[in-house]
Amino acid sequence: MSTPTTPPSSHEPPPGPDGPIPLVDLRLQHAQVGAEVEAGWARVLAATSYVLGAEVAEFEREFARFCGVGHCVGVANGTDALELALRAAGVGDGDEVVLPANTFVASAEAVARAGARVVLADCDPTYLLLDPAAAKDALTPRTRAIMAVHLYGQVAPVDELAAIAEAGGLLLVEDAAQAQGARRHGAAAGSLGRVAGTSFYPGKNLGAYGDAGAVLTGDGELARRLRALRNHGSEAKYHHPELGFNSRMDALQAVVLRAKLARLERWNAERRAAAARYAELLGGCEALTLPATMPGNRHAWHLYVVQVDERDRVLAALNAAGIGAGIHYPVPVHLHGAFAGLGHARGDFPVAEAAAGRILSLPLYPGITAAQQERVADTLRKAVGC
Ligand SMILES: Cc1ncc(COP(=O)(O)O)c(C=O)c1O
Repeated sequence: MSTPTTPPSSHEPPPGPDGPIPLVDLRLQHAQVGAEVEAGWARVLAATSYVLGAEVAEFEREFARFCGVGHCVGVANGTDALELALRAAGVGDGDEVVLPANTFVASAEAVARAGARVVLADCDPTYLLLDPAAAKDALTPRTRAIMAVHLYGQVAPVDELAAIAEAGGLLLVEDAAQAQGARRHGAAAGSLGRVAGTSFYPGKNLGAYGDAGAVLTGDGELARRLRALRNHGSEAKYHHPELGFNSRMDALQAVVLRAKLARLERWNAERRAAAARYAELLGGCEALTLPATMPGNRHAWHLYVVQVDERDRVLAALNAAGIGAGIHYPVPVHLHGAFAGLGHARGDFPVAEAAAGRILSLPLYPGITAAQQERVADTLRKAVGC
């Protein structure tokens, strides 16, 4: 399956009012940053400094400031970011990490790759975010961390999750891959736990032109460990006191990310305006459950996810009309072959399972036009008969 955020091929015609409407249109962002990216790439090529270096360090400073955290460590992708976050915080063999059953598989993959045991908990039916009561029920004496996944661009209920973590002496780790610019009670995603991992996969709210990710933390010692871990366990060249990884951010990606970060607040505001427009266009249709924003959250609208019966038929109708709707995600973590070893069966996480059969992501990106959204809404209303 293609991921949420696969960019449209450059061979496709640009979408016009009657043309295809992609799930995500990255060309509109490139049109705004292209000149700046080319100038930055020329700088990198002239300096022949391709891995880490000054551009990455600048981006790290800028993104840390944007998130209101002390430290940002640029790495190769979001999955590595989460794995390294866990490892740097000392989570590994014999530890359990509680995370939601409905997330992109990478959240769980990172936990397993860090050597810890994946312990899944169900989500709430309204926001489809990790349910604090379910997370609490999943705790055992071996639990070391709770991973709050800010799915679809909205911060998970971190107040309650942090209270549970604190009471149990556990770490709160954020998967902020889908939530750059999201806030809870004014505080940015990535600044709400001990450590956070995020992804700059191209279609994310802040997307690179290839793979990239980052770890965020307010803890200077943790940041120091992360800088070593991402670079073969080395702080001094050719000295490797511990086993590390090759997971460094490329300078070319840092250039793109710096150019896009300068526009992220505006682009997220455009996403919010587009989400509000969908709410108007689709409101009052009983066959549709529209996405809700948890009080206290400023949603970053990475994805606009409605719920509907007969989802596959409705999705086919949208796709047939040239509308690039998608599903995020059709299979909850416990039903993937990769996690069969957890021993779960269908029925174990009923809210996540029911949602997986009903969720439908509509096209949403900065620059989507009112006319495009009207076409999506008309087609969807017809497909569900309202
Ligand atoms: C919720 C979530 N976690 C983790 C990841 C992993 O990020 P990456 O694809 O950069 O490894 C993604 C992105 O795909 C994601 O959406």
